[in-house]
Amino acid sequence: MTRTDGAALPEPLIAALRAAVGPSHVLLDHDLRATYETDWSRRFHGVAAAVVRPGSVDEVTAVLRGCADAGVAVVPQGGNTGLVGGSVPRSAAPRDARGSPRPQVVLSTLRLREMGDVDQVAGEVTVGAGVTLGTLQEHVRGAGWEVGIDMGSRDSATVGGMVATNAGGVNVVRHGTMRQQIVGIEAALASGAVVRRLPGLIKDNTGYALASLLAGSEGTLAVVTRVRLRLVPPLPRRAVAVLAVDDAGQAAAFAARLRRGLASLTAAELFDDDGMRLVMAHTRGEAPFRDRHPRYLLIECGAATDPTEELVSAIAGLDSRDAVVASDEGGRHRLWNLREGHTESINAAGVPHKLDVSVPIGRIGEYDVAVREAIRRVAPAARTFIYGHVGDGNLHVNVLGPDPDDEAVDDAILALAIEFGGAVSAEHGIGVAKVRWLAADRGEADVATMRAIKRALDPGNVLNPGVLFSA
Ligand code: FAD
Ligand code: MLT
Ligand code: ZN
Repeated sequence: MTRTDGAALPEPLIAALRAAVGPSHVLLDHDLRATYETDWSRRFHGVAAAVVRPGSVDEVTAVLRGCADAGVAVVPQGGNTGLVGGSVPRSAAPRDARGSPRPQVVLSTLRLREMGDVDQVAGEVTVGAGVTLGTLQEHVRGAGWEVGIDMGSRDSATVGGMVATNAGGVNVVRHGTMRQQIVGIEAALASGAVVRRLPGLIKDNTGYALASLLAGSEGTLAVVTRVRLRLVPPLPRRAVAVLAVDDAGQAAAFAARLRRGLASLTAAELFDDDGMRLVMAHTRGEAPFRDRHPRYLLIECGAATDPTEELVSAIAGLDSRDAVVASDEGGRHRLWNLREGHTESINAAGVPHKLDVSVPIGRIGEYDVAVREAIRRVAPAARTFIYGHVGDGNLHVNVLGPDPDDEAVDDAILALAIEFGGAVSAEHGIGVAKVRWLAADRGEADVATMRAIKRALDPGNVLNPGVLFSA
């Protein structure tokens, strides 16, 4: 996306922001702003008039009020690991009613690091939105619990960002998505009002479920400041298998059988041979098999007692081409690296087109074949890697080669997902990357309802204009 110069902030707003969060947390200097202005994939970037780093909910509301009064757009940002351009300023600045460019302020949540004690009775914890998943995992493991979500971006992705994207990850087959982990939320609206419901009640049908609404709202409705999460019991004993399979359809069918018959299943992940070779080259990893195979299915089991035997006997009943199993930590890590290493290895090879689609599980094999063909038609020289959470029907289709601004390949992949009865986003969201596809997927009535909610909560279009809907 083309980089354009952003409009500057009015001096009184700069003074108000400095007064609200402290001068050292209002970053105006180009070098200090730079890492907040480009997304993880390097495909999306824009210019921020300032990066502001509030350290409390009161500071967040002061920033929002100041920006709303001045007509300035606010881009909430957590760990900046989102892959659809929603966490960085728009490359073409949003416009005000007179058509003039509006300045964009990045509101970084990284100072919202409050870490509550684990409630041992409820199995819950309340944390600040800026706490990273990795830090949260360490904290709750120390108290004998586990977080229901895990994913490769754990060291940077924040709890607030995970709520805003309704993050999925590798354990959705077991624990569901981020929305299912939330038992309370605190969030600041563009008006500066704060909604807060943090008692952590498992059952709470008192009016609209605002926390569920904010899950997946991608920073367009409110800035999430604190979250209460349900925790899950730890599964200290693990076993991992990689199965060599004929195609993606077989991987999906095997995953479905294991979901039914393998009680300790925690993950069912797919990758292809090209992707595995790329990861091996980038991370100096070892091939799990002597021969090459078309696709691989990674299965993980977790339990209080060693699940290896259960895993081995379950996969023995499947007609796979080959299989390896690891129970020791090093072996499990080596197998997981073949799957989790994809994102970084692909990024190291170029600026990828990253599409994240949902497909009805029964049609995964068919989609995998059709989408490769569709990509070949629009970008014959491109390199395609398909991997993902096959147990959830979620494929990550990554393409290297086409120019980052050329959307032909994105369009082909997304059109096919809709044709197959799937969704254009399974877990990363719409961001700015797929705005054109929201109505095509959800239909006009759904989008009109979403716009009505957006207008009600953010009438001035302060929060993340250009994400979900065109600005
Ligand atoms: P950001 O990237 O900072 O923001 C993402 C969106 O949320 C933006 O629209 C932003 O405006 C909004 N936002 C951020 N914080 C707040 C807040 N406090 N309040 C309101 N809005 C906010 N995603 C998955 O779902 N599953 C995976 O398995 C997965 N694996 C990944 C692996 C790697 C290596 C990488 C780089 C990314 C991966 N992702 C995955 C994508 C990403 O990590 C998730 O979307 C994550 O939830 C984003 O968190 P973040 O803090 O980085 O958010
Ligand atoms: C993953 O599952 O690896 C992530 O969602 C990131 C990606 O799509 O590369
Ligand atoms: Zn994923």
